[in-house]
Amino acid sequence: MSSKVSSNSSNETFKPDLFKGKVIFCTGGRSGICYSIVQSLMSLGADACIVGRDAKGLQESAERLQQQTGRKCLAAAADVRDPKSLSEAVRKTEERFGRIDHVICGAAGNFLAPISNLSENAFRTVVEIDLLGTYNTIRATLPLVRQSRGSYIHISATLHYRGTPYQAHVSAAKAGVDALSRALAAEEGPRGVRSNVIAPGPIAGTEGMDRLLPKGKKVDTEIPLQRQGSTTDIANAAIFLLSPAAAYITAATLVVDGGHWHTASQI
Ligand code: HXC
Repeated sequence: MSSKVSSNSSNETFKPDLFKGKVIFCTGGRSGICYSIVQSLMSLGADACIVGRDAKGLQESAERLQQQTGRKCLAAAADVRDPKSLSEAVRKTEERFGRIDHVICGAAGNFLAPISNLSENAFRTVVEIDLLGTYNTIRATLPLVRQSRGSYIHISATLHYRGTPYQAHVSAAKAGVDALSRALAAEEGPRGVRSNVIAPGPIAGTEGMDRLLPKGKKVDTEIPLQRQGSTTDIANAAIFLLSPAAAYITAATLVVDGGHWHTASQI
């Protein structure tokens, strides 16, 4: 017999003006986990810029976020593989809001493929989106984040803690992201900038799960907490890590997976 514990929404747990006056810059914010993070931070007072390749979808998401939260959200179309377009997104954010406090590096690409069938370009594409894209985002935002003594959250994974079949490309990229976050934390800590990683497990209703979970496969009973995560679970972790309550936490990885990777065979 199991009793599942679900998460509270951020409004029930955190004080409503926790991020008042703060500005969030989020890559991959159009949908899924990152949308939920931005929505939660905005509902606690932040304004935001969301970044992604799909200009139309991005604009729709920004408008929805504004309606849901009453805060301001800028949509800046950019590809994290293109430093110039990212710098332009940062420039627009500074022009609109005057600052960037917290950066969520969430843009990612993934698909299932065995190494034997993974072309050099396929491997490179995922490494360029996930790892190089994170580096590009850091480079573009760091001057403003230094000014505000803000912080970074990188959305990683647990796939690379063990060998996950058909995920060589993303596992290699996410291992790099984890290392990059720790290096950033070490270099920028003396300037008051923090950098942490959130490693989500199986999160229901996300594009990642749609792509990776074999049709019909049930994972809930493999997870110690007996359910897939929700995007709210990840958003709550992000709120904590960006809040003053985490002022002494940097170079850390917060795994939010209901205990999954320790116990489950595979995704
Ligand atoms: C093998 C594949 C493939 C597949 C693409 N490729 N899909 N190879 N199996 N299923 C190859 C292509 O053939 C090509 O190589 C190369 O990858 C680049 O493909 P393009 O389509 O040209 O690239 P692009 O348009 O830039 O698209 C990038 C993408 C795409 C990653 C391939 O899927 C994408 O844009 N995804 C964004 C959204 C996404 O993936 N979200 C899920 C994130 S989930 P060749 O050799 O033919 O040129 C996530 C969670 C991880 O990250 C952790 C989960 C627990």
